[in-house]
Amino acid sequence: MRVLSGIQPTGNLHLGNYLGAIRNWVRMQEEISAQGGQCLYFLADLHAISMPHDPAQLTANTRAMAAALVACGIDTDRSILFNQARVPAHAELQWLLNGTARMGWLNRMTQWKDKAGKNREGASAALFTYPVLQAADVLLYQTTHVPVGEDQKQHLELARDVAQKFNNDYCAPDAPVFTLPEPIIPKEAARIMSLRDGSAKMSKSDPSDMSRINLTDDADLMNQKVKKARTDPEPLPSEPEGLEGRAEARNLVGIYATLANQSVADVLRDFAGQGFGQFKPALAELMVEKLGPINQRFTALREDSAALDAILAKGAERARELATPTLDASYAALGLCR
Ligand code: ADP
Ligand code: TRP
Repeated sequence: MRVLSGIQPTGNLHLGNYLGAIRNWVRMQEEISAQGGQCLYFLADLHAISMPHDPAQLTANTRAMAAALVACGIDTDRSILFNQARVPAHAELQWLLNGTARMGWLNRMTQWKDKAGKNREGASAALFTYPVLQAADVLLYQTTHVPVGEDQKQHLELARDVAQKFNNDYCAPDAPVFTLPEPIIPKEAARIMSLRDGSAKMSKSDPSDMSRINLTDDADLMNQKVKKARTDPEPLPSEPEGLEGRAEARNLVGIYATLANQSVADVLRDFAGQGFGQFKPALAELMVEKLGPINQRFTALREDSAALDAILAKGAERARELATPTLDASYAALGLCR
């Protein structure tokens, strides 16, 4: 098994990123390395230039995100951690795959439609070909499994379509260049909602900082945010069904369950009949217990740019080595002389 996933280095991580994505990466790292497989995790800095950005901010965010991933438990001895820009094979393979990806496929991507909005003429070409770079990320390493959130499913399907068409068009049937990757989308899909609005996803782009828990928040701030979180006046039910129509209550119970590695039913068994006056302090305490150590490791690491650059450079060297055979085979299949 070879596992790969990426995340854009856009600002600090929040609880949604941690519970929805990164914690899964850490789990897979344990499982896959026990089976002799390899995990690759990277910061998608090349993807980040598809939207207007501040170069100095991108550099800072890339290092901060590397620190956050290590603080969350990505072990750089077992997993390969790097940023795309240090592995030029990503950009090279994207160009080679641009000959295979079809305009029609890219036009149907919901992320393109959402992010370009009404201003398609003014959107960058990189935003349009974003999914081809993502296909290159995955296909470059003969990746078998890609842990991602539900929102990335369509991009993974595109990567499979590109791989299939390339294999069909340019390879002998018994010697395909690319492996078709499978997405891994967590079932209990930890979808963490805003603390201010149970119908909106917790997101770094929410203008209110009170809507999210950041990995940089200290214990005081976490306590404050949980205390101010929107709720309803009802006590907690004894069964999960009782949370229907109570988006905010369901979100807080869901966060508790995910952090405690319990089911929602288990949590409700313990808190049935209690009001938020009792539940919220318990939730805040659990949050501080689970996120406090991550916060401390992050704070210690983030200032050390040299150490972070060294981690990313070492990861990139290993990634470049793994990428070479597939990149060479892609050039050769297309008849490109080098
Ligand atoms: P944001 O919505 O804050 O901009 P991104 O889109 O950069 O976050 O997502 C980075 C990763 O974190 C993705 O894998 C995404 O699926 C996951 N993620 C982001 N927000 C949440 C959330 N509220 N709940 C669960 N997972 C999330
Ligand atoms: N597009 C992904 C996101 O926004 C990040 C990403 C880039 C990625 N390349 C990838 C994820 C390859 C998985 C595999 O979250």
